[in-house]
Amino acid sequence: MVPEIASRNHIEAISRVTKKSLKEAKVDWKDIDAITPTYGPGLVGTLLVGLSYAKALSYAKKIPLVGVNHIQGHIASNYITHKELEPPFICVMMSGGNTQIIKVEDYTQFEVLGKTRDDAIGEAFDKVARVVGLTYPGGPKVDRLAQEGKPNIELPKTHFEEDTLDFSFSGIKTAVINIHHKTPNINKADLCASFQKTVTETLMENVEKAIQKTGIKKVALAGGVSSNSYIRKEFLLLEKKQIKVYQPDLKLCTDNGAMIASAGYYNYLAKKMNSLNLNAIPNLKM
Ligand code: KG4
Repeated sequence: MVPEIASRNHIEAISRVTKKSLKEAKVDWKDIDAITPTYGPGLVGTLLVGLSYAKALSYAKKIPLVGVNHIQGHIASNYITHKELEPPFICVMMSGGNTQIIKVEDYTQFEVLGKTRDDAIGEAFDKVARVVGLTYPGGPKVDRLAQEGKPNIELPKTHFEEDTLDFSFSGIKTAVINIHHKTPNINKADLCASFQKTVTETLMENVEKAIQKTGIKKVALAGGVSSNSYIRKEFLLLEKKQIKVYQPDLKLCTDNGAMIASAGYYNYLAKKMNSLNLNAIPNLKM
């Protein structure tokens, strides 16, 4: 991705997308209670385009500005799909830039229990895809190819101290690269299936630890990688252990505006308004 081109594309699209959204939702400006842009984490240029546009609208239409953390948006995608879902729950946030286990204490209150110490899981999926010759974004293609393979190749798992819920995905990514270099005619579908199975096991081991640590028996998935068919299937098996599992609709897993609006709604109810001084924060934490 070229940040400058992404920003320019945002500028070209933002007005048109806003008008189209209002039209499709059959609402007028008088029906809008708040403007809820995301202000981080992300690329500073694209964040600034959205944020500046939102500030201008907030000022011109005299509607409150309510900033949203992008990760909070992913978590809130679950409230759109599962109207009955209420905090507290454990959220497994898996995207191209983040991998975190988050305790959702309330709609606007969070505690990060564990996170990746190096690559995000989506980054690892995209890298594995590139190694086996699939184009970006590679995650969905690895998912499809893995369905034709068997998880019969042993890959490493990184283990940290017993009490941490942190992850590492760089070791397995490097292992896949090395295996592919040493055995170029390896069965690519088997390699993808093995990678997918191993990272899923790693995720689930830490999620089970989070359940034990907090006593919370509700787990929600979020982020682009939560559209992975194998991960979705494996997490559902937790229901046999009386853990309730929530997964966003596929169209709400990857980045989208509806999830940001959903999080913005809860920030608005919690009266978390911002002034027009709100700035983009590329490395905003939860
Ligand atoms: O959350 P997202 O749309 O964007 C951000 O990173 O913020 O996530 C994108 C990531 C990419 O790495 C993409 O390859 C991955 O999600 N992804 C998948 C699947 N669909 C998207 N990874 C594995 N399996 C999928 N089906």
